[in-house]
Amino acid sequence: MSVRERIGQLRDTINRHNYNYYVLNTPEISDREFDMLLKELEKLETENPEFADPLSPTQRVGSDLTHGFDSVEHIHPMLSLSNTYSIEEVDEWFGRVRAGLGGERFEVTGEMKFDGTSISLIYEHGRLVRAVTRGDGIRGDVVTANVKTIKSIPLQLQGEGWPDFFEIRGEILMPWKEFDRLNKEREFNEEPLFANPRNAAAGTLKTLDTREVSRRGLDAYFYYLLGPELPADNHYDNMMAAKKWGFKVSDIMTRLDSLEGVEAFVRYWDEHRKELPVATDGLVFKVDSLRQQLNLGFTAKSPRWAIAYKFPAERALTRLRFVSFEVGRMGIVTPVANLEPVLLSGTVIRRASLHNEDIVKTLDIHQHDLLYVEKGGEIIPKITGVDENGREPGAEPVRFVSHCPACGTPLVRVEGEAAWQCPNKFGCPPQIVGRIEHFVGRKMMNIDGIGEETSQALFDAGYVKGIADLYDLTEGQLLKLDGFGPRSAEKVLEGLEASKTMPFDRVVYALSIPFVGDTVARKLVKAFPDIDLIMSASAEELAAAKDIGPRIAESIIEYFKNPVNRQTVARLREVGLQMAVAEDVAGDTSNRLEGKAFVISGTFSHHSRDEYKDLIERNGGRNVSSISKKTDYVLAGENMGPAKREKAASLGIPVISEDDFLNMIGTE
Ligand code: IVH
Repeated sequence: MSVRERIGQLRDTINRHNYNYYVLNTPEISDREFDMLLKELEKLETENPEFADPLSPTQRVGSDLTHGFDSVEHIHPMLSLSNTYSIEEVDEWFGRVRAGLGGERFEVTGEMKFDGTSISLIYEHGRLVRAVTRGDGIRGDVVTANVKTIKSIPLQLQGEGWPDFFEIRGEILMPWKEFDRLNKEREFNEEPLFANPRNAAAGTLKTLDTREVSRRGLDAYFYYLLGPELPADNHYDNMMAAKKWGFKVSDIMTRLDSLEGVEAFVRYWDEHRKELPVATDGLVFKVDSLRQQLNLGFTAKSPRWAIAYKFPAERALTRLRFVSFEVGRMGIVTPVANLEPVLLSGTVIRRASLHNEDIVKTLDIHQHDLLYVEKGGEIIPKITGVDENGREPGAEPVRFVSHCPACGTPLVRVEGEAAWQCPNKFGCPPQIVGRIEHFVGRKMMNIDGIGEETSQALFDAGYVKGIADLYDLTEGQLLKLDGFGPRSAEKVLEGLEASKTMPFDRVVYALSIPFVGDTVARKLVKAFPDIDLIMSASAEELAAAKDIGPRIAESIIEYFKNPVNRQTVARLREVGLQMAVAEDVAGDTSNRLEGKAFVISGTFSHHSRDEYKDLIERNGGRNVSSISKKTDYVLAGENMGPAKREKAASLGIPVISEDDFLNMIGTE
């Protein structure tokens, strides 16, 4: 590959990761991997100035600017810190500072690098006047209303001696405890989980509902004071003054006067950071004296007087036993590394996805290689590298399979992607079983008693060859399955019966149409409230609906073109599944709930949560997200949490069932 092509490739990759990180809040790679890519690009651009581009990702810091907030220019640009990954690199920085100061004595502060989202606060006459996100470093979003809900941030300063005007910068964080609680709640409500506390904090700060922000238990630590008149001539004392005014300044901050001190600080916190209540991704060292800071100055992107040392991601080395190739419900073949079990941050890792052929090739994995497994800030372990010293002589590179490992059909490459797919949709067992499993899942038809194993057993026994066959199951057949008795068989049959009242959007989702997830299914049925309307729509008509793009539209057309799928839908209709949005949902508006505030909690059986939200609004009511004195009713489904129930009881707010609710609006 030519230098020019590599530069183009790096720019595309970095732009994509920037988007994942800043806009979607779902990073795919670790910060370290991202930094490596950026460093490689910076180096190539410096060495080859003829390929410079003002729009290259090296020319900006990523942006978190989104719509819905006013943006303002920062008084001082919010720069980043340059990163180091080893004590040696920190030593080199120390040497550069010494040289920069012409050999003068200097002290540094050692502090935590908090892993949240940065914030700039402006105080005038002791009162918080504005809170601004980092944005692109030059302009940020004004998020004062949200920041005010963070209890540890002083709105009015305490003590005395604060300048009339100053700026203070810090990091907004979601403590681990709150992060775990929030993700549990999101899992229960079937909402997407946050990958790590940093994304959770950033996402929360950009939420338009201030009450929701206040509920999420954010916290903030401060680490930088700026302004024309500061209390002291050094960073440490300024931070101690800020602490007295009411800001949360970490007790970990320490003054260090030698390289040995810096090294000991690194060694200590490499180990002990795991005991902290918030996420950290490294340490920061800053020259303490403001005069010396001024002398050292800034590069275009970061201060010369400060450096970040990033903690190594938690990583383990283990041997690859073999790579298996697994076929999913959509026929996509995923390579999975099966490993010698290894302990990593408290869990035993046996398997890690290798995602696709490109990743296997880039890592250049050979049979039985020694592999690095990392957990980083993310939840799922991944393979990040190979220790080539551990390669067995004569080991062959891992090759991607050319045929489906399950049914032997030659694989086809998915257009525009790194994925390979088995095209044998209706004859490839794991695809069929995957669709059955999906169909009966909790967010789809919610058929209790059929899970992964039973789906497989039903297929193996030859009873269910497609989702519609589920409705032909007999008690006799079920009783023949391993571990099934009269009670469990009855539960399955009842579940199948109950699925006939599941709302139409769930049915659409349950069909396993590529690219049609739960959200798309809901949008689709809003625009086309009947299966016949969906099936007869053209690609253009489908793509014209809100949030349905051409790719989804094409996929829907493709799906319904297939006679097997059409027959499945016909059979599902025949057994009585909902093939249109229920009348009472699609129906008219009323003012029966005029002015009433509802909180919805739990899972429902007659309609989806979104349909209930819709019903509330169309009957004149309001949806609110948390229970307060102003709530009129709590609409409770199954599994409503005890804390909510207690809160409603303590405030004397009636908790009603879905039947009560449907009665209220006069549909039942
Ligand atoms: S000082 C001009 N100190 O790390 C220097 N930053 O990679 C301003 N961060 O944008 C930053 N902990 O969001 C500083 N103790 C700390 C920090 C810290 C976390 C974040 C901050 C900054 C980013 C730079």
